[in-house]
Amino acid sequence: MAIQISPSILSADFAHLADEAAAVENAADWLHVDVMDNHFVPNLTLGLPIVESLLKAAKLPLDCHLMIEDPDRWAPAYAEAGAGSVTIHAEAAKAPVRTLRAIRAAGARASLALNPATPLESYADLLPEVDMLLLMTVEPGFGGQKFIDLVLPKIRKARELVGGRDAAVWVQVDGGIAADTIERAAEAGADVFVAGSAVYGAEDPAAAVEALRAAAEK
Ligand code: DX5
Ligand code: ZN
Repeated sequence: MAIQISPSILSADFAHLADEAAAVENAADWLHVDVMDNHFVPNLTLGLPIVESLLKAAKLPLDCHLMIEDPDRWAPAYAEAGAGSVTIHAEAAKAPVRTLRAIRAAGARASLALNPATPLESYADLLPEVDMLLLMTVEPGFGGQKFIDLVLPKIRKARELVGGRDAAVWVQVDGGIAADTIERAAEAGADVFVAGSAVYGAEDPAAAVEALRAAAEK
């Protein structure tokens, strides 16, 4: 599969989300929406009402990353609202198979996220239930953190596990993705890249997306 870029609006101006989404709509593949509840992670962002408004305002499909304590309760609602992809965290889900199936049944891509210290092996059996694996390359909760190189071997393992470049399951990375780190993550086998500060911290967010794509395709 071709490289895909998913700019994270966590680093955008929350008072102008529609404009911030429009700024990357011709360059990016997805718009990454970080939902945080101040329980699963020590930060609070936005929830379903804002996602529902963004779904009306943004042209790009929404890639909703739920960093919340009770994804089993909430994830299906994001899919039903019209998100293109819904990611739940393995560390938080109590019934991941049921929840991933509910996401798919509502018409969205079902995705499972693993924190840096969560072993891939524990979740290998769930692969038939997922459309994407999200390997966190920072501890979740904040934008602008440093890429954790220790995750690179896990990205390699994930690529081996899901199969070659045209595998049905996508491998997404999130955290500290910038011009230099995206090359290492792509070389290790990731094919979907979330970038917050590298896109919205740039003067020209669309150009930043193109630069990331070029670096990943190298
Ligand atoms: C962090 C979020 C990320 C965040 C990435 O917990 O999941 O999506 O926006 O930000 P950067 O790209 O700045 O590391
Ligand atoms: Zn995220």
